[in-house]
Amino acid sequence: MCGIVGYTGSEQAKDILIGGLKRLEYRGYDSAGVALEQAGGDGIDVFRRVGKVSGLESELAHLDHTSTCGIGHTRWATHGRPSVANAHPHSSCDGRISIVHNGIIENFAELREELEARGHHFASDTDTEVFAHLIEEAYESGNGKPGTHDLLAAVREACTHVIGAYGLAAICADEPGVIAVARKDSPIIIGKGETGSYVASDVIAVIDATRDVVVLEDGQFARLTPEGISYTDADGNAIEPAVTHIDWDIDMAEKGGYPDFMLKEIFEQPRVVRDTLVGRLSGAGELDIDELGLTYEELDLIDRVYVIACGTSFHAGLIAKNLIESWARIPCEVEAASEFRYRNPIITPTTLVVAVSQSGETADTLAAIRDARIKGAKVFGITNVVGSPVARESDGVIYTKANKEIAVASTKSFIGQVVSLTLLALLLAQVKGKLNTRQVKLLFRELGDTAEQIQWILDTQQEAIHEAALACKDAHSALFVGRGMGAAISNEGALKLKEISYLHAEAYAAGEMKHGPIALIDPGFPVIAVTTKSPVYDKVVSNLKECEARGAKIIVVATEGDEDIKQIADHVICIPEVRDAFTPITATVPLQLLAREVALMRGCDVDQPRNLAKSVTVE
Ligand code: AGP
Repeated sequence: MCGIVGYTGSEQAKDILIGGLKRLEYRGYDSAGVALEQAGGDGIDVFRRVGKVSGLESELAHLDHTSTCGIGHTRWATHGRPSVANAHPHSSCDGRISIVHNGIIENFAELREELEARGHHFASDTDTEVFAHLIEEAYESGNGKPGTHDLLAAVREACTHVIGAYGLAAICADEPGVIAVARKDSPIIIGKGETGSYVASDVIAVIDATRDVVVLEDGQFARLTPEGISYTDADGNAIEPAVTHIDWDIDMAEKGGYPDFMLKEIFEQPRVVRDTLVGRLSGAGELDIDELGLTYEELDLIDRVYVIACGTSFHAGLIAKNLIESWARIPCEVEAASEFRYRNPIITPTTLVVAVSQSGETADTLAAIRDARIKGAKVFGITNVVGSPVARESDGVIYTKANKEIAVASTKSFIGQVVSLTLLALLLAQVKGKLNTRQVKLLFRELGDTAEQIQWILDTQQEAIHEAALACKDAHSALFVGRGMGAAISNEGALKLKEISYLHAEAYAAGEMKHGPIALIDPGFPVIAVTTKSPVYDKVVSNLKECEARGAKIIVVATEGDEDIKQIADHVICIPEVRDAFTPITATVPLQLLAREVALMRGCDVDQPRNLAKSVTVE
């Protein structure tokens, strides 16, 4: 995830900025840069590098730059590939204003067109750069208005044109020592240290300098100088935001105050849904997948889909199969990449292979991609890592926007994968004429609603999940069951539980129980079932009755308001009512939290389970 740091004070800014950027490295990035004011308001020097902050540090180490005011950034590519030109800071045409930005500007294409028509020259492919030019216009005069000649006022004016999310810091050669800051839907922290004022996107970047910070709220603006900080609302009225004292240590700060990365990443999931969907649907109802790499004509010819992946990514594929077959009516098979690559699957030029990989470098998935391409398939990648081998070796790609996932157990990347695969299923259905624009728009809106539904689960179900975990923690084994989408989700629930709590768990299609697994059930045996309202609800309930009769401890993930299920279940975890197609996005969240609770109760390290690595890059 992109990172921002800024400093104005009495010390050398370059050292403080590099130190702050290094602290932000754990979040993941592909390039880094700083902008430093020259002495006496002469101008701004910008230094940018693709790759590690240490590369930028070496470049700056040889430089005798005594600037005491600057801004820095680590970039995780969204619009435009990783490159020096796309790295932040970005500058105005005359180079006298530089900015760093986190977030996504949804209307950047329109803004860019308008700015170019008014004579602005763009030097990157990013959405961010429009901000630099908008601020320049507002500062100098332009677009029919007189200039503000006040950096913060110009930033406020620029923000009125932007639709989207931003955490923004700007400097201007004409206002030495001033940093102007804005925030909407992207975190910004501001603090005053002994030698100057600091801004960052994450408290970890400033924690050595100050522990008393202002967490800027949406629509608030700040002006930092070496002497102090002032705040305004969007109309320029002075405000006094509350100061928060941070008593976290560095380890906690990296985890955003959460006790472990797994919980932090589970709580990021509403954002992942939103970010993965930003800019994907035009007002006219056209789905926009920027790196599609395949023409609509090629997509229309697709008559068979294979989803290939491993582990959690494979489970995302199980969900995609349901969606692709029911919406686009294209036969879809899901295969473990480790099996696919050693078989002789039926592949023709009209076969689409969808490779799903969080890391984008899993050896089996990569080998399967290469094999599929040799056999003539079109390959589409779904990955979390920009420029990864899966992205490079596929014809097209959707990036999941989960940002760097640190816990070994995949959580937020799974949600990003399912949302991305849902987009792909919608696109195939649209291209094939199986769903009309009105239907696509409705489904897209409901897909976006899952962000709030996940938040509701996170806010309200922790206690119920804790109670359910107590019922599992001493078990020797557990069974996850469901039907339809519920069966697909059960696989992920069982994998999460076994990989982090070392408790044996299996997933079964509930209807298959009576063909063998029911023999396992004795009094107290945990059966975890997805019993959300769906066309197969009654069937799952009747399968659970068979388990109840044998004394199983029954834990259900059910639709809020379902009173009947309480008659059979020992523990009920609720999710909001949602269309069956989107159940995986919400119903998986309680299962992730349940696995984590059980693991903690059993004394396991939830971030770094034994025997496992984050990505498996060798055979
Ligand atoms: C699950 O929590 C694991 N992290 C694992 O199953 C993972 O999904 C699998 O190794 C595939 O990794 P990839 O998505 O990076 O290819």
